[in-house]
Amino acid sequence: MTADDHVRVDLTGAPQTMLATLYARALDADLPHPILNDRWAKDTVAGIDFDWTQTTITARRSPAVTTRSAHFDTWVRQFLALHPKATVLHLGCGLDSRYLRVAPGPDVQWYDIDYPEVAELRGRLLPGGGEGHHVVAASVTDPAWLHDIPIGAPVLALGEGLTMYLSEADGLDLLNRIVEHCGTGELQFDAFNSLGIRSQWTNSVVRRSGATLRWAINGPDDILSAVPGTRLLAWMSPFDTVAFDLVRPAYRLLANAMSRVPALRYMAQYHRYSF
Ligand SMILES: C[S@@+](CC[C@H](N)C(=O)[O-])C[C@H]1O[C@@H](n2cnc3c(N)ncnc32)[C@H](O)[C@@H]1O
Repeated sequence: MTADDHVRVDLTGAPQTMLATLYARALDADLPHPILNDRWAKDTVAGIDFDWTQTTITARRSPAVTTRSAHFDTWVRQFLALHPKATVLHLGCGLDSRYLRVAPGPDVQWYDIDYPEVAELRGRLLPGGGEGHHVVAASVTDPAWLHDIPIGAPVLALGEGLTMYLSEADGLDLLNRIVEHCGTGELQFDAFNSLGIRSQWTNSVVRRSGATLRWAINGPDDILSAVPGTRLLAWMSPFDTVAFDLVRPAYRLLANAMSRVPALRYMAQYHRYSF
């Protein structure tokens, strides 16, 4: 590929943050012991003309992203093992190659959904996934796109690195709309608690992008009380996941120290519900 073939990106706000998560996955793929080993992330980064230092992501910091991606890959695979005929709504997908990593079976309809400027980049940078793979160019908070999603199979609605960019009202409306429209399935997403939202100025990826983090979720009750029909399947700190066992000892020491303080342990949290 010559320099002229590279895709230039000029994004600000929440869409820009997906460059940081993408770059973390690409750096991980070059580590001697990768956590995710996402070769598509490497290829995608190689196709983009961007000063990646702007993301502030380094190989040492990459496990914050790759353990999360590995964890949600596992939850997605578990859902698809139970429901080989299913619909997946990958909300705020960015340039994530999850569809390629998970390689769902022929009876899965998979929708990658993000803002139009991100969806357009996906089309240029990532291989399409064949008949069962769709890219939806829309804000997830726009009620219109959901009407076009055929119902009939169980639905997995998954948002990695998304909820914190939504307002609480928009986020809850989205979850309620999905539950009402889709009938049966699962919600899987990560969230920040109030401390995570209040301390967003310490998050260099967010600060540099100009995005604002808004929705604090402090535990499952915030969802169960506001989204009728949901039942809790799992709620955990990233430090308590199997994927986290793969991080370097120094990183684990820090996590162990943070885990002693509940507000820090659950500053980021993973949620899973059935409906
Ligand atoms: C931190 S990135 C995560 C991207 C991807 N899930 C990943 O793990 O690489 C946040 C993503 O959420 C998307 N996003 C935020 N608000 C959105 C909205 N209202 N509608 C669609 N996408 C949104 C951004 O465009 C961006 O791609």
